[in-house]
Amino acid sequence: MAKLSLMYFSPTHSTKKIVSAVGKVFFEKLLCETTILDLTKLAARSRDYVFEEEDIVVFGAPVYGGRLPQLLVPLLQNCEGNGAKAIVVSVYGNRDYDDALLESCDLFTDRGFVVCAAAAFIGQHSYTSKVGTNRPDAEDLLAAQTFAIAAFNNVMSGSKVRKRLRGNRPYKELSATMRSNKQPPSVDNGRCVHCGNCIAVCPVCNIGKNLETFDRCIGCGACVRFCPAGARSFSDPNIIAAREKLEQNCTVRRWPEFFI
Ligand SMILES: Cc1cc2nc3c(=O)[nH]c(=O)nc-3n(C[C@H](O)[C@H](O)[C@H](O)COP(=O)(O)O)c2cc1C
Repeated sequence: MAKLSLMYFSPTHSTKKIVSAVGKVFFEKLLCETTILDLTKLAARSRDYVFEEEDIVVFGAPVYGGRLPQLLVPLLQNCEGNGAKAIVVSVYGNRDYDDALLESCDLFTDRGFVVCAAAAFIGQHSYTSKVGTNRPDAEDLLAAQTFAIAAFNNVMSGSKVRKRLRGNRPYKELSATMRSNKQPPSVDNGRCVHCGNCIAVCPVCNIGKNLETFDRCIGCGACVRFCPAGARSFSDPNIIAAREKLEQNCTVRRWPEFFI
């Protein structure tokens, strides 16, 4: 009996929306046991995943520096596919996905999955609401449904992705800024209501219970996006500089791409 797993890392929830939209189509067609593997949670990244041939995995991750977020690599390198079918999705902030989708597909193939379909979608940029604003939007979610139907047909026939994936090997080199940890977003004490949301949503547990921070910030933007009082803002100079560039250069709408 097929089992469906929706596996994603999604600090600001755009990847989660796309994977859920794809997963919904699969669920409605298969009506099978479905598990959500939310790798945004540290605990979910601290265990091994073993799949079986009849399993189907819809995987999604955001693009960080044109690559797969590197904190996922050890986890994916430990997954055991055993012939399970994978649908692989990258979600990027309207700049580019560079080699991220190829890198993800390579990892899944190396771990013994059959990659049946892959796609790149667009989400609002983690750094600014002016780039990829409110995406994925209704049009993106419709595209996710269309993609899922084509992906489902490939899964049923056991077909691998045929279209050549965009991206290069060796993968794009990560810049020194991308490789290093970030200065955590600052808190406006006049606004903070001490709700603890920022602590709960941080994927790397970088915020302590008195809002003290450690040295693990990956700059994902979850604490900024989900602060109900708008008390958190980016303070890392590299992020602020990148945000300016993005707002200047990356506002023309980009479209989802499917590799079937
Ligand atoms: C550290 C970091 C690096 C990023 N690098 C890129 C990039 O190279 N290209 C791009 O288009 N978007 C980039 N983004 C934006 C995210 O890919 C985008 O906002 C995505 O929708 C976030 O997914 P999530 O909402 O599931 O967290 C980056 C975001 C972060 C936090």
